[in-house]
Amino acid sequence: MIIAVDGPTASGKGTIAKALAKHFGLPHLDTGLLYRAVGWQVAANGGDPDDPGDALAAADFPDGLLDNPELRSETTGGLASRVSVHPAVRQALFERQRKFATQPGGAVLDGRDIGTVIAPEAEVKLYVTATTAARAERRYLEMQDSGRKVSLKDIVDQLERRDERDKGRKDAPLAIASDAFVLDTTELSKEDAIALAITVVVQAT
Ligand code: C5P
Repeated sequence: MIIAVDGPTASGKGTIAKALAKHFGLPHLDTGLLYRAVGWQVAANGGDPDDPGDALAAADFPDGLLDNPELRSETTGGLASRVSVHPAVRQALFERQRKFATQPGGAVLDGRDIGTVIAPEAEVKLYVTATTAARAERRYLEMQDSGRKVSLKDIVDQLERRDERDKGRKDAPLAIASDAFVLDTTELSKEDAIALAITVVVQAT
């Protein structure tokens, strides 16, 4: 069973994907982390994330980089969104994601194009979303908790910029697969969102 979980930044898709993996005993891949590694590596190389050649060279990042906590920062998220525009970068990361998705026994993957490009044959597709205000507030509280000072307005700006880039790119834009279940988490607690996602998977399989 392949479970594809797509959606915009801070929608709750990562939390839901992790919870589904645990509940159904499946391995989980956060595909955003791969793009984050490329974004981080291009900066470390002194390259330009908007240059296709520099971005592709950074796709050859060492595996150990995936454990670097700096990958989780919003700065790296912005770089990831810039390198992910290049088709050659997406192609370079395709096989790894495809292999994970098709391993015997199944898998849960979360990202932007899992249900549309990486595993269009997935048995279950969730598109997790929430209003910009709700997503920004969650991100703001997360950052406050971790002691980082940022303004809510800056977070809204960053989210909107990232959404626009991810939805507007030509190759594998963030889009709702025609057979996806749209799970809007705006009014849901984390627990209710997870419970609903589990119900959707159970009903679909
Ligand atoms: O999900 P996360 O915020 O970690 O993703 C970082 C960036 O990586 C996204 O804004 C998006 O541009 C890119 N990405 C992508 N395709 C995926 C996962 C992430 O283009 N499957």
